[in-house]
Amino acid sequence: AAWEKQVRHSSTPRRVNGFSVLVTGAAGFIGSHCSLALKKRGDGVLGLDNFNDYYDPTLKRARQNLLSKHQIFIVEGDLNDGPLLTKLFDVVPFTHVLHLAAQAGVRYAMQNPQSYVKSNIAGFVNLLEVAKAVNPQPAIVWASSSSVYGLNTENPFSERDRTDRPASLYAATKKAGEEIAHTYNHIYGLSLTGLRFFTVYGPWGRPDMAYFFFTKDILQGKPIDIYRTQDQKAVARDFTYIDDVVKGCLGALDTAEKSTGSGGKKKGPAQLRVYNLGNTSPVPVGRLVSILEGLLNTKAKKHVITLPRNGDVPYTHANVTLAYKDFGYKPTTDLASGLRKFVKWYVNYFGIESKHSKETQHFDESS
Ligand code: NAD
Ligand code: UGA
Repeated sequence: AAWEKQVRHSSTPRRVNGFSVLVTGAAGFIGSHCSLALKKRGDGVLGLDNFNDYYDPTLKRARQNLLSKHQIFIVEGDLNDGPLLTKLFDVVPFTHVLHLAAQAGVRYAMQNPQSYVKSNIAGFVNLLEVAKAVNPQPAIVWASSSSVYGLNTENPFSERDRTDRPASLYAATKKAGEEIAHTYNHIYGLSLTGLRFFTVYGPWGRPDMAYFFFTKDILQGKPIDIYRTQDQKAVARDFTYIDDVVKGCLGALDTAEKSTGSGGKKKGPAQLRVYNLGNTSPVPVGRLVSILEGLLNTKAKKHVITLPRNGDVPYTHANVTLAYKDFGYKPTTDLASGLRKFVKWYVNYFGIESKHSKETQHFDESS
């Protein structure tokens, strides 16, 4: 296969600084940022992505181009392709897997429920089936989600809080992923670390997310919907900037212990961990919009509507004490500074002529 030639003839996936990491979802938002960060610090990285069209695949191709400039290769394939995954592990002795490929998005689960089951449940199981059989087993860090807290009313959310009331099928598949991880850890001694990300945003972000399409709609003069809860309270999110999340992912990889392996060779309990990676500071959606209005110097056409029953939860708020204790995770970017960087990227990427264009001439492609 083309990828095999590429991989065998490049130094890309080889271990440079100790790690050789398979990044699934590498053409995605968080995966592309993490791949670049790993590569920049000297680790070997190989990507896997199916380039599906859940959102505009041109953006995924643009991220792929950026990664290829940094000698990071992305194999085009699906998590559910067992022989392909086995072959990847045959060719490259991965020490770690950063598993970010998934069907993301909360509201789309009402339109296409099966895509969540296929990628987030069947695809995850397929990856674990392959990884458990590799010797030595790689340590796996995977993306869970703040959505597992569902209709939780504790505030802020701690890892020990209940997660038995998912509000969307997306949340249910992410919660299922955590249960599945538990069984693979228990039976096969796989080292597994789940990261519950909280509404991540930033440059190269996802066009299906509110901050992204609000920016587009505000610039095009189109109306936007701002949700309020049934009892007319503001809906809020613990929006987390991508660079903070990347640091958290690397910290989780760095502290992941090796697997113990299965059967009689088992030496001790392998690691199973779950962490919140949030910003610890929830912001109402209305405030997100007013920050964007300021940055874009344009008034939004706002429709404040009662939150439809669409899978959204009223608010999210992370307690990150555990991630701080175990790998020094500390979010440092507030929403206004992070959105400024996003808008700078947005106007540059889409070539929008505005007073911002001048400011962005020296845009750093990897920022
Ligand atoms: P993304 O959609 O940009 O990235 C996911 C990538 O995985 C995409 O490029 C997609 O093509 C690929 N993919 C999907 N299904 C696949 C499959 N079956 N086989 C191979 N590739 C597949 O999303 P993201 O925002 O970068 O999210 C990364 C991970 O973090 C996901 O697991 C998501 O559920 C989780 N997460 C994201 C957020 C957020 O706010 N961005 C919050 C919580 C959790
Ligand atoms: C985001 C991601 O899309 C999920 O993949 C991820 O798992 C989740 O974060 C998470 O933290 O686990 P969400 O918070 O719903 O999900 O992100 P957006 O779709 O960008 O919505 C942000 C906020 O804007 C939400 O409070 C939502 O209710 C609100 N919103 C959305 C509106 O007010 N109007 C809209 O038209 C759309």
